Amino acid sequence: MKQLTVKTMSTSYDVHIGGGVYVLFATEYKELLQHADKVGIFADATAASYHLEKLEQALQAASIPFVLHMLPGGEESKTPASFMSCHSFLLQHQFTRQSVLIAFGGGACGDLTGFVAATFMRGIPFLQCPTTILAHDSAVGGKTAINMPEGKNMVGSFHQPAGVLFRPDLFTTLPEREVRSGMAELLKHAMISDDDWTESLLLNSDFPHFSAEMLSTELLKGIRVKADIVAQDEFEQGMRKFLNFGHTLGHAVEAYFGFGKVSHGECVMIGMAYSLLLSETFGSISPGFTNRFIRFADHSGYPVQAIVDVEFNSLLQFMKMDKKVSAGELVFVLLHSPGNPFTQKVSERHCEQAYHELISRIKEEVLHDCKRNKGSNNRK
Ligand SMILES: NC(=O)c1ccc[n+]([C@@H]2O[C@H](COP(=O)([O-])OP(=O)(O)OC[C@H]3O[C@@H](n4cnc5c(N)ncnc54)[C@H](O)[C@@H]3O)[C@@H](O)[C@H]2O)c1
Ligand SMILES: [Zn+2]
Repeated sequence: MKQLTVKTMSTSYDVHIGGGVYVLFATEYKELLQHADKVGIFADATAASYHLEKLEQALQAASIPFVLHMLPGGEESKTPASFMSCHSFLLQHQFTRQSVLIAFGGGACGDLTGFVAATFMRGIPFLQCPTTILAHDSAVGGKTAINMPEGKNMVGSFHQPAGVLFRPDLFTTLPEREVRSGMAELLKHAMISDDDWTESLLLNSDFPHFSAEMLSTELLKGIRVKADIVAQDEFEQGMRKFLNFGHTLGHAVEAYFGFGKVSHGECVMIGMAYSLLLSETFGSISPGFTNRFIRFADHSGYPVQAIVDVEFNSLLQFMKMDKKVSAGELVFVLLHSPGNPFTQKVSERHCEQAYHELISRIKEEVLHDCKRNKGSNNRK
C-alpha cells in the first residue's frame, strides 16, 4: 500500500493506493465512520456491477452500517436531476450534518458525490473510492461539480474529501478507451512537471497498458504532481491552471463529437499535441518532439486522426466557451520544454494557423505512416 498526504489551506487528507486499502475502513477511517449517524454510498452502476461487494464487505467487516444509492453509470449521473435525487435520497433516509458519504465510481460519480457532500446541510464529509484510472486526477484536489444543459461542470464548488482510497485492481474491467483516457491525464501530469518522467512514458512501448504494480507507482507520481499544485493554489488563481494542459482544444473536441463519444483523455491527447505545436512558437518545443508525440499517441491507440476533417471554426465556438477566454484571444497552457509549463494568450488567427498545421502534421505522421506500414504488422 502506498500513501501520500494532500495539504491545502483549509485541510489535509491522505490518498492511499493499493489492493488492500479498504482495510483502512477498520482502522484509519473507523472513527470518522463510526461517529457518523449515517453512512451513504453513492455508487456508479457499472463500477458497482463489477466491484461493489469489495467495498460492502470491507464496511461490514469494520462493522459500519451504510445505505446505498445507485447512480447511472458515468456522465449521466452528473445532471441537475440526479443531484436533486441524491439530496432527496439523503433527506428521506434521515441523513444529517453528522453523516458521511462515500463515492464509489469514476470521476463523474466523485464529482457528483463531492458536490452533494458540499451542499447537503451546507456541507458534510465524504470519502473518495475511485474506480477509474482517470480518477487519480479527479478524486484529488476538491473540485466538485455537475453539468448544466449549457455546459460541463458549470455548477460546483471546492470541497476536499476526507480521504481517497484507490484500488488499481479495480481497473481490470475498464473499457480500453477509459484506460486510454486515464493514462492521457497521467501523461499530462508528467509533461507539466518532469522532463525525465515524460521521456520514460514516451519510450514505454506498453503505454497505456501497465501492470497493477507499475500503475500504482505511476499514479502516485501523478497524484503527487496534482497534490503539490493544489497545495500551492487550491482555488486556481495561478499555477493550478497548468493542470489544464491540453484541455482548451481537448474540451472543444470532446464537445464537438458529443460528450462520451470520444473519451475525455483521448480528446486531451489531441489537445496536448496542439499545445505542443503552439509551444513551438511561444516556447522551445521542437517540431521533432511534437511529431514524435503525435506518432506516440497514434501507436498507443489514441484516435488522433479523428479531427482531420473537423473545421477549425466548429471547434473555435466551443473554445470560446472556455472559462479562460478573453476578447479575441484564447489562453493556453504551453510548455517552454517538457516539465516547464506557462500560460499564454494566443490570437484566434494564430490558433487557426496552428490548427491547420496540426492537421497536416497528423496527415504526415499518422496517415502517411499508415500507408507506409500497410500490410506490415509492426504497429500495436
Ligand atoms: N474534479 C476534478 O478535478 C476532475 C478532474 C478531471 C475530470 N473530472 C471529471 O471526471 C469525469 C470523468 O471521469 P472518468 O473518466 O473516471 O469517467 P466516468 O466516471 O464517466 O467513468 C467512465 C466509465 O467507466 C465506467 N466505470 C467506472 N469504473 C469502472 C470499472 N472499474 N470498471 C468498468 N467500468 C467502470 C463508468 O460507468 C463510465 O461508463 C468527468 O465528468 C470530468 O469532468 C473531474
Ligand atoms: Zn482532464
